[in-house]
Amino acid sequence: MLDFTYENHTRIHFGKDSLNKLEGELARFGKNILLVYGKGAIKRIGLYDKVIEILKRAGKNIFELEGVMPNPTYEKVLEGAEIVKKNKISLILAVGGGSVIDCAKGVSVVAKSRSKNAFRKYWVRQEPLTHKVVPVGSILTMVGTGSEANAGSVITHNGLKVKLGRVFPPFVNPVFSILNPEYTYSVSEYQMVSGIFDIISHLLEQYFGGYEDNTSDYIIEGLLKAVIANTPKAIANPSDYVVRANLMWASTMALNKISSATKLGQQDWQVHGIEHQLGAYTDCAHGMGLAAISTAYYPYIYRHNIPKFKRFAINVWGVDDAIGDDDTVALEGLKRMNQFIKDSHMCYTLKELGATKDMLKDIAKTSRNGGGYGKVSSKDILKILQNCFE
Ligand code: NZQ
Ligand code: ZN
Repeated sequence: MLDFTYENHTRIHFGKDSLNKLEGELARFGKNILLVYGKGAIKRIGLYDKVIEILKRAGKNIFELEGVMPNPTYEKVLEGAEIVKKNKISLILAVGGGSVIDCAKGVSVVAKSRSKNAFRKYWVRQEPLTHKVVPVGSILTMVGTGSEANAGSVITHNGLKVKLGRVFPPFVNPVFSILNPEYTYSVSEYQMVSGIFDIISHLLEQYFGGYEDNTSDYIIEGLLKAVIANTPKAIANPSDYVVRANLMWASTMALNKISSATKLGQQDWQVHGIEHQLGAYTDCAHGMGLAAISTAYYPYIYRHNIPKFKRFAINVWGVDDAIGDDDTVALEGLKRMNQFIKDSHMCYTLKELGATKDMLKDIAKTSRNGGGYGKVSSKDILKILQNCFE
């Protein structure tokens, strides 16, 4: 097991009444609050009005950055950073899904940076973050990214045609996050299953790395089983509180470093590396891109560690050890995962996501390389993309 230091700066308020905690949280900050949200979902579900009422009751001055798009852009981050600079904002309150929270973190970092090109500095060159940031709080409405309790911020730069993730130091984590599973009932089935595969993918990226027997892998298997068991139930009844609560908490646990603390530097992240560029070219839903790529990526690399893929088949998908040799068992696990993707109405091909054959070479060339069992070159990535194109 590798040495590690674990810290998580996010205080979580979870449950049906968790919004009641907002007022207490607000008391820790100054007068001026920047509310960040997407294109209207929070207004449709009545959450916007409730949050405004609480902010007013707490005597806050409210500034707004609205219209944050899925796959948030650097332009949007700059727009928010301007508001922060001009108005002495003391808390950025993100209300929405991963895109809104990622954008809020981007605003928090960029607003306090002296760099003329913060995107190049922090996302392209991944330079250390040494200055203070404006605190971010979040109210989560869509499950999948784990952004509510981590320091990740994935931003698209349309001019450079790149979508890049940055994991900032822990002080960029939201200082608090409010998680009420009921807010996720209104998410469309398409977005819900996209978020679900995002959870699965985060777990797989952390699982398929390292060679020792490791507590992290047992945690990951448990979380995968929770997500797999709850998915058909969420599709059948989107308003089942227990099901949505299980998915929400599994999602947070999947990417708050709990399940990877012992494996830093021993993880894959190749599927995400490819998806981010697929997203830069197609603007697809993140989890749907991950699902389609995974159908081809894992069968392409599993031979580099058959014992681990066999363990995955048995412990996660319940494959019977006796069906054949190690290779057969390992492959059966991947078959069951691909069937799960189909049964859960997730995207299976890049074509469904708006990719064209012409794009594949550029996506392959510009994707960041991961660190999984079978390290892949740009040529391999191109083959993987072709294998899941249609
Ligand atoms: O824009 P609004 O109106 O808010 O609608 C959103 C959006 O259209 C909608 N939605 C959200 N909550 C809803 C709702 N619709 C109805 N009812 C609700 N309660 O859902 C759509 C998708 O939202 P988005 O925030 O884009 O989805 P998600 O949470 O999947 O976030 C995706 C982004 O996060 C990044 C992805 O790359 C992508 O840019 N990621 C961030 C990570 C992190 N911070 O650690 C890690 C991930 O791997 C990922 O890369
Ligand atoms: Zn993801």
